[in-house]
Amino acid sequence: MRYNRLGQSGLVVSRMCFGAGSLGVGETLPGLIKNIDANAATEIVAKAIDAGINFFDTSDKYVDGHSEETLGKALGTKRKDVIVATKCGLPVGPTPNDRGLSAHHIIRSCERSLRRLGTDWVDIYYAHTFDNQTPLEETARAFEYLIQRGMARYVAVSNWPAWMAARMLGIQDKMGYAPAACNQVYYSLVGRDIERELVPMSAATGLGIIVYSALAGGFLSGKYERDKPPPAGTRRATFTMAPKLEMDTAFKVVDTLKELAPKYGVKPGQVALAWTMARPFISSVIFGISRASQLEENLMAADLVLSDEDDKRLDALTAIA
Ligand SMILES: NC(=O)c1ccc[n+]([C@@H]2O[C@H](COP(=O)([O-])OP(=O)(O)OC[C@H]3O[C@@H](n4cnc5c(N)ncnc54)[C@H](OP(=O)(O)O)[C@@H]3O)[C@@H](O)[C@H]2O)c1
Repeated sequence: MRYNRLGQSGLVVSRMCFGAGSLGVGETLPGLIKNIDANAATEIVAKAIDAGINFFDTSDKYVDGHSEETLGKALGTKRKDVIVATKCGLPVGPTPNDRGLSAHHIIRSCERSLRRLGTDWVDIYYAHTFDNQTPLEETARAFEYLIQRGMARYVAVSNWPAWMAARMLGIQDKMGYAPAACNQVYYSLVGRDIERELVPMSAATGLGIIVYSALAGGFLSGKYERDKPPPAGTRRATFTMAPKLEMDTAFKVVDTLKELAPKYGVKPGQVALAWTMARPFISSVIFGISRASQLEENLMAADLVLSDEDDKRLDALTAIA
């Protein structure tokens, strides 16, 4: 396993981050079904740590809080040795204050997450999405409260447009608050929008970039075929992630991944993960699994380095115009 600093912070994270959104039994969103119980999770998390992963990502939203609970139990005494990130902001209840980035919701959500995770502190606390109703100053103040009380070591944002993250950094700087350490965003070989604005903004400000769904929800594993329905039991059989893929290009990428994989003795998905991890603007790539065997396969990408020629070939298929 290789490690990076998280943006310009001093925190060191593994280049592969374990996406714990699959831990627990239930639905995160309609059709997005998770089925890893506490026993299976304990084995999976131990394997991830043995492989050098020190970074775990969850949210109060995932599997109605069961992801946090299951991760906390699975980590057990190892919790102190790893970086745990969680999030708030997406709707977690029926009332208007069960969502968003008000000071009320942020502080209450963090208290609840700590209880579910069974820990006194979270290493990175994210705003899971943006909230157009709450002034950024209020969100920044609530984040600083968490830091000052030791409930969070770093604060961060997720799915924020570059301009909004830049405003947040400006407010935090002006107020003498700890800066947002990173923005967690979607990025894959078939979804490279962040290269337009967020990547240059991050280079200028030192904001870290953590990416999720680098397999495009499993599409880049190569298990989906043109003109055939998604195989039963796979993600795309019940849930299509947004933003939607441009299918012609996406299948051309999969064709190339399938061609390259045997050369490196891996599967197509690992080539996609290796390509993503090699982007210099990314601190860590969060990957998801729905069973233990996928963890073992995906870990084969940990030290995989593509040749310059293969890297450029993949890059050219989806380079931003
Ligand atoms: N901040 C945010 O808004 C946000 C949003 C999404 C995700 N995330 C984070 O990112 C994590 C990962 O997201 P994701 O699950 O969408 O990522 P992903 O890595 O693109 O997709 C994971 C899915 O791909 C399939 N898969 C994984 N490895 C495979 C393999 N070796 N062979 C075949 N299929 C394989 C599995 O689905 P099936 O087996 O079910 O087909 C697995 O559940 C989440 O747990 C969460 O921590 C954050």
